[in-house]
Amino acid sequence: MEETAKRRILLGITGGIAAYKAAELARALQKNNVEVRVAMTEAATHFVGTATFQALTGRPVALDAWDAGVPNAMPHIELSREADAIVIAPASADFLAKLALGLADDLLSTTCLARNCPLIVAPAMNREMWDNPATQRNVERLRADGIAILGPAAGDQACGETGMGRMLEPEALLEAILSHFAPRRLAGRKVVVTAGPTFEAIDTVRGITNRSSGKMGYALAAEALAEGAAVTLVSGPTALAPPAGVIFVPVTSAAEMLAAVEASIGEADLFLSVAAVADYTPARPSARKIKKSDEALRIDLEPTVDILARVAARPGAPFCVGFAAESENLAEYAQAKRKRKGIPMIVANLVQQAIGRDDNEVVIHDDAGAHPLPRAAKAQVAAAILSHALGLMASRPPHAAVRPLQQAS
Ligand code: CTP
Repeated sequence: MEETAKRRILLGITGGIAAYKAAELARALQKNNVEVRVAMTEAATHFVGTATFQALTGRPVALDAWDAGVPNAMPHIELSREADAIVIAPASADFLAKLALGLADDLLSTTCLARNCPLIVAPAMNREMWDNPATQRNVERLRADGIAILGPAAGDQACGETGMGRMLEPEALLEAILSHFAPRRLAGRKVVVTAGPTFEAIDTVRGITNRSSGKMGYALAAEALAEGAAVTLVSGPTALAPPAGVIFVPVTSAAEMLAAVEASIGEADLFLSVAAVADYTPARPSARKIKKSDEALRIDLEPTVDILARVAARPGAPFCVGFAAESENLAEYAQAKRKRKGIPMIVANLVQQAIGRDDNEVVIHDDAGAHPLPRAAKAQVAAAILSHALGLMASRPPHAAVRPLQQAS
């Protein structure tokens, strides 16, 4: 790393068994030319002592809003102003709730509220706490507020249970934190993402749809945005709030999605086709509600346009990433689909392991073969998928219309 780029991080530690891993993170950050200052909540001190962090960083640990040895007696302001970013690791469920509400009842939460720098949180908690709708609501809120959420990962937990909620390992956190400071890899680039299901009308009230939640597509849109891209998110009906900063185009049917994509795809560098687009649509939707009768009802369906294949076939097409949700023969079907659609990269998952969930386990297929990614939160998976796509884009031979990307330094 360049000598000139010394960064300063305020490492906030909240109450959780993963607090002991924060010591390793502090060391790893320092080894990577990052100056670390530590602030702990009272609960965190029950899991690991302040002396550890004081020794590691050579600076007193900030604990108390009233006595932090700060000349102007405003430690929350001073702590945030001297940091390039605040990293909360581990971030307990309680602390996430405080951040979501903007509470400020101790030094660390007050500092976060008073910050003028990016905030990054690494949640760590029992899987039921993570899955609890209250926590999920809070995480959604934090994302919408522009707070970066790293993890959690799935695996064995300190409580003896297994599931989502483990804090990411210090090496993974280090990499994500450093990449936060890295140059934005999609600055000045245009990305179009499709997400969610489509709804194909049968009559004025009924229709054909599917169980896609849109979470994966929205997570990818957020990642592309974080990499500096101008992002258009074309979305079928979902219950999600679009990431702040995207150009949001809500659509209903596959035909509307096609029209919205065609209207925005010109000049795009990257097309992420995450939507679960209906393959068939009723040929003659009824303009009034169909009445019940004793007769069998037959609805004629006609194929929709394959939006992804159509974009991939454009002259000077953007780099296209497809998704394949399969219920069996994952690798074989995904590779066949990739070739059929004429795209360089497809992300495959088993429907039974992905739809509606907050985590996902996928395998990327490209010309070089299969690249399985570990099960993780969809935001984490989205970051890995985008990195893979950027790697392929950067190594692509120059194309008349696709400008080669610069590798991130
Ligand atoms: N897709 C699309 N337009 C369609 C259908 C699919 O853009 N009308 C895109 C999806 O966004 C996804 C990829 O194509 O990126 C794979 O979609 P999928 O429905 O799984 O593949 P199909 O080719 O429809 O094959 P099948 O349904 O038989 O599995």
